[in-house]
Amino acid sequence: MGRRLVYMDHSATTPLREEVIKAMEPFFRERYGNPSSLHSWGRETRQAVESARRKVGLALGSEPEEIYFTGGGTESNNIVLQGIARRRGKGHIITSSIEHHAVLDVCRDLATGGFQVTYLPVDRYGMVDPREVEEAITPGTVLISIMMANNEVGTIQPIKEIGNLARLKNILFHTDAVQAVGKLPVKVNDLGVDFLSLSAHKFNGPKGVGALYVRKGVSLAPLCNGGGQERKLRPGTENVPGIVGLAEALELAMGELSPRTAHLVALQKRMEEGLLKIGGATVNGHPQLRLPGHINVSFNYVEGESLLLGLDLQGVAASSGSACTSGSIDPSHVLLAMGLEPEVARGSLRLTMGWENTAEDVDYVLGVLSPLVKRLRKISAHYPQSRSWEGLKGV
Ligand SMILES: Cc1ncc(COP(=O)(O)O)c(C=O)c1O
Repeated sequence: MGRRLVYMDHSATTPLREEVIKAMEPFFRERYGNPSSLHSWGRETRQAVESARRKVGLALGSEPEEIYFTGGGTESNNIVLQGIARRRGKGHIITSSIEHHAVLDVCRDLATGGFQVTYLPVDRYGMVDPREVEEAITPGTVLISIMMANNEVGTIQPIKEIGNLARLKNILFHTDAVQAVGKLPVKVNDLGVDFLSLSAHKFNGPKGVGALYVRKGVSLAPLCNGGGQERKLRPGTENVPGIVGLAEALELAMGELSPRTAHLVALQKRMEEGLLKIGGATVNGHPQLRLPGHINVSFNYVEGESLLLGLDLQGVAASSGSACTSGSIDPSHVLLAMGLEPEVARGSLRLTMGWENTAEDVDYVLGVLSPLVKRLRKISAHYPQSRSWEGLKGV
C-alpha cells in the first residue's frame, strides 16, 4: 500500500464539514450585524442565533432558553464550577480522578479557597462507581461533576445512575459531555443533569465555540461582567458564525448518529483485532462501554511519544494521552488512575477515528505500526535480551 495521509486524532479535534462551512459563510460576509443591534442587520443575526439555540435545545431535549453559547468546552466547565463556587462561597465538590484538566485544574484552584474536593477513584476500565459517589456525599456537598465519556480511554460513565442519585439527594450535577455529544444519544432529562458542557470542534464544527445547558431555575454567578448577552451568564458579542456552525454540525451529527456509530464500531473492531496481533498490546478502557471509534492501546517496552512521532513520519496523526498534555512525557493521569504501571502508561497510543476514515486507513495504520513497534522494541533498553536478539536476526 502506498503512502497516505490518515487523520486518527478525532478526540483532539475534527475536520469541519462542508455543510457547516456553507452555513457559516454568510455570517463572515454579508450577514455581519451585531445581534444586539435593533436594525435589520442585527435582527437578522439575532434570528440566526436564536434558531441555533432552538436546534441545540432540540438535540439535547431541553428548552432553548436553557442553552447558553460559550467559547468552548473549557469555558463551559469553568462557568459551571466557578459559577457555583462564587454563588456558594464554600462547600464540597465531588468529581473523579480522570476528568479533563478543564475540570481538575478548576477544582484544584477551588480547593485553595474554601472548597473541599473529593476525587473519586475509577476501576481498571476507567469507570466511576455510582455507589462511591453516594458514599462521598456529605451535608456540605454543593456539586457533583463527572464527565460523560473520557477523552483518553473513551470509557462511558454511568451518568444516568449518578443523575438519579443527585436528584434524590437534591445535589446539583454537571457532566462534561465534550467527548460524548455528537457520538452518543445525549438527552439532558434522561441523564438527570443540571449542567452539561459541549464543544463544537469535537463533532465537525468550528473551534472556539461551545454551549452549556443550565437547567431552568438554577443560578450561576457569571465569570465575566459586561454586556447582557447570553442572559448575562456569558457576556460579550456573540460569535455568530461559530454559533451557526455549532448548531448545523450538531444537527447533522445527531441525524446521522446510527450510520456513523455502525461505521465507527466496524473500524474500531478491525483496528483492535489488528493491534492485538502485533503482540504485547493491551487495549485500555471499557471493552464495551466505550466511545465508538475510540482506541487507547499500550505496547510494552515502547514509548507512546516515539510511536506518535514514528506514525507522523508515515503520514498518520494519532495522540499519546490527551492532546492537551502531549509534549510532556508524564504518564497520563487517567491511565495511572486506572492502575496501569507508569511504564505501561507511557507506552500508550490513542487512535480516534472519524466518519471519513475507511477500512483502508485502518489497514494502512496497522501496516505502519507493526514494524514501528518492533523497531522501537529492538532499541529499548528494557526489552528482554533474548527476544531482542531474536528480533535482530533478520536485520
Ligand atoms: C472531556 C473534555 N473536556 C473539555 C475539553 C476542552 O474543550 P475545548 O477544547 O472546547 O475547550 C476537551 C478537549 O479536549 C475534552 O476532551
